[in-house]
Amino acid sequence: MDTRLPEIKPHIDRDRLYAALEGLGRIGRYVDERTGLEGVNRLALTEADGEGRRQVVAWMRALGLEVTIDRIGNVYGLRAGRESHLAPVMMGSHIDSVPTAGRFDGCLGVLGGLEIVHTLNDHRIETRRPVVVAFFTDEEGCRFGTDMLGSAVATGRLALEEAYGLTDRDGLMLVDELEKIGFKGEADARVQPPHAYLECHIEQGPILRAQGVDIGVVQGVQAISWHELTIQGKSAHAGTTPMNLRADAGVAAAKINLKLREMIASGRHGTQMRATMGAITPHPGLVNIVPGRVRATVDLRNPDDTFMRSAEAEIIAFYAQVEAEEGVTITWRQTARTEYVPFDTRVQGRIAAAADAAGLTRSDIISGAGHDAQEFARIAPTAMVFVPGEYDGISHNPREFSTPEQCANGVNVMLTVLLDLAEEA
Ligand code: GLV
Ligand code: MN
Ligand code: MN
Repeated sequence: MDTRLPEIKPHIDRDRLYAALEGLGRIGRYVDERTGLEGVNRLALTEADGEGRRQVVAWMRALGLEVTIDRIGNVYGLRAGRESHLAPVMMGSHIDSVPTAGRFDGCLGVLGGLEIVHTLNDHRIETRRPVVVAFFTDEEGCRFGTDMLGSAVATGRLALEEAYGLTDRDGLMLVDELEKIGFKGEADARVQPPHAYLECHIEQGPILRAQGVDIGVVQGVQAISWHELTIQGKSAHAGTTPMNLRADAGVAAAKINLKLREMIASGRHGTQMRATMGAITPHPGLVNIVPGRVRATVDLRNPDDTFMRSAEAEIIAFYAQVEAEEGVTITWRQTARTEYVPFDTRVQGRIAAAADAAGLTRSDIISGAGHDAQEFARIAPTAMVFVPGEYDGISHNPREFSTPEQCANGVNVMLTVLLDLAEEA
C-alpha cells in the first residue's frame, strides 16, 4: 500500500492579492472628470510613483525580503533559498503607470509575486533556489520617451548614462527625478542573469476574454517602433493667410496619421500591423492661428520583423513627401525600438502544464504590449502568464478591470511554475 500523503499544492490568497491591488491603486488615484471613473496616475519618477514604490518596499520588508535598489531605481526583493549561491528565479513587472491607468497593468505581476512569497511564508516552504520579486523603473515610457527603461538598463540593452540623460517634456532630467524621489540606489544596475524570469500580466486586449479562456501562455512580444516628430511650419493668421501661402504643421500631422491608416488597410505590411499617432500637439493651439509647429508621435507594432522594417521605411519616406507637399520641415527621432521577442518554449510548457493541472483553460497568445519580460528574455529563460480583462480587455484606461478570480488564476499558475523552477539544479 502506498502510505505517502497526496501532495497538497499551495494556493495563493485571492482576497489578499486583490486587497493589495486595491491598496496600491489608491496611490496616485484620481477621478476622471467626464466619466466619474477612478483612475490611477503614477507616472514614472513623480511623487506618486515614489509613494507607490515606498509602499511596495514596505510590503517587501514585511514579508522578510532583502531589498536592493540599483542605480536606475529598479527594486529587487530577495527571499533566500536552501542553496543561496544558486541563481534565483525572478518574478517581476512594474508599478509605474500611464497617466490614465487602471489598477492592474504591471501591478498584478509585482503584487502577484509578493502574494506568492506570502504563500511560501505561510506554508513555511523553503525553495532550493532563492526567489526574487522585482519592479522596474519606467516600464511605460510615457514620460521620458523610452519604454521598458529600467529592465533595458538592467539587462544591457540601454546604457545607464544614456538613460540618466533622458529628459521629459519640461526638460527635467531622469537622473535628477530619480534622485528627487529617493530611488537612485547604490547597487550595480546590471543584473546577474536569473535562473528564469516569470511575469504575470493582464492581457490588455480582448482575445482571452472572447475565447472564454482563463490563462494566456505568452509565446512572445511583437516588435515595437516609436518615433517622436517635430513638424515645423509657419504660424499665421487663420483669416487672412491665403491657403496657397500656408505651411500648416497640423495638416502635415494629419496626413501622416491618415497614411498610417492607409498602410494598415493595404495589408502591405501584413495583417497584424498596428499604428497610432498618440500625441498630436499643435503650437500655439488656438482657433484662429495656423499651427506653426506640431509635436507628434508614431507608435508602430508588428509581430513580424520584416513587415515592421518595411512599414518603418514607408512611413519615413512619407515624412519627406509631406515636407515637399506642405512646405514644412519634419525632424524625427527614434525613441524606442525592439524586435519580436520569442519566449522560452520550455517555460511556456511549464505554464501550460500548470494551467492544465489546475483545471484552467488556456490558449497561446502573442503579446500586443511591451513588457519587462522581453528584456529579460535576452539573458534568461523567460515567459509570461496572461489573464483576461473585462470590457474587451481595455487597458491604459480607468476602465481596466480583471476579477479577483481572473487575477488569482494567473498568480496560482505562476506559483506552480515557480515551485518547479526553483527546485531545479
Ligand atoms: C507598454 O505598456 C506598451 O506601450 O506596450
Ligand atoms: Mn504593463
Ligand atoms: Mn502599460
